[in-house]
Amino acid sequence: SKRVAILISGGGSNMVALVNSMIGDHPARPVVVISNDPNAGGLAKARDLGIATAFVDHREYPNDRNAFEEILHATLEGHNPDIVCLAGFMRILTEGFTARYEGRMLNIHPSLLPKYKGLHTHARALEAGDPEHGCSVHEVTAALDDGPVLGQARIAVEQNDTPETLASRLLPLEHELYPAVLRRFANGDRTPVRLPIMRSIP
Ligand code: GAR
Repeated sequence: SKRVAILISGGGSNMVALVNSMIGDHPARPVVVISNDPNAGGLAKARDLGIATAFVDHREYPNDRNAFEEILHATLEGHNPDIVCLAGFMRILTEGFTARYEGRMLNIHPSLLPKYKGLHTHARALEAGDPEHGCSVHEVTAALDDGPVLGQARIAVEQNDTPETLASRLLPLEHELYPAVLRRFANGDRTPVRLPIMRSIP
């Protein structure tokens, strides 16, 4: 089966969803979880799930993205991944790094791409008055949040939504979408996944 490395920066809830999905006849298995933050909550969760963990602290390489990425690459290669999943990984990767994983690196982004690449996606959707918001899983290319979209899930924006309520309604959908895309991708199927819109119950 395909070997999956997962890169995180924080709580790792998407990482947990991915790991828990890779069971039974799944075409892939998790081999390592790597964080750029040694204190990321997701590292302990990965350990509890029995997955190898590592960290590469970006703060040890101030003003030297290439040095950080060299160590990150070496750490990844120690686990020989076929697929790399970015799951709440909050470091921008250079073109040199993304080229090494071309066609085998995925990312989840909390917006309906191509809208709202970068940060503060929930606030930007609210400011724009969008009737819908959502999340996207895409292939990682050199440009930030820009590769082919392999799946999206959407929610209706309600009257009193805040960035926080949008984030908390969206997160459970991320946990459905990312495993669905990974399963297809690991089977060599790049047909986009579309989850039905979630309407909140009034
Ligand atoms: C998720 O909402 C993910 O979409 C977002 O960070 C959160 C991580 O949560 N990713 C980005 O903003 C990427 N730029 P998690 O650590 O619980 O999976």
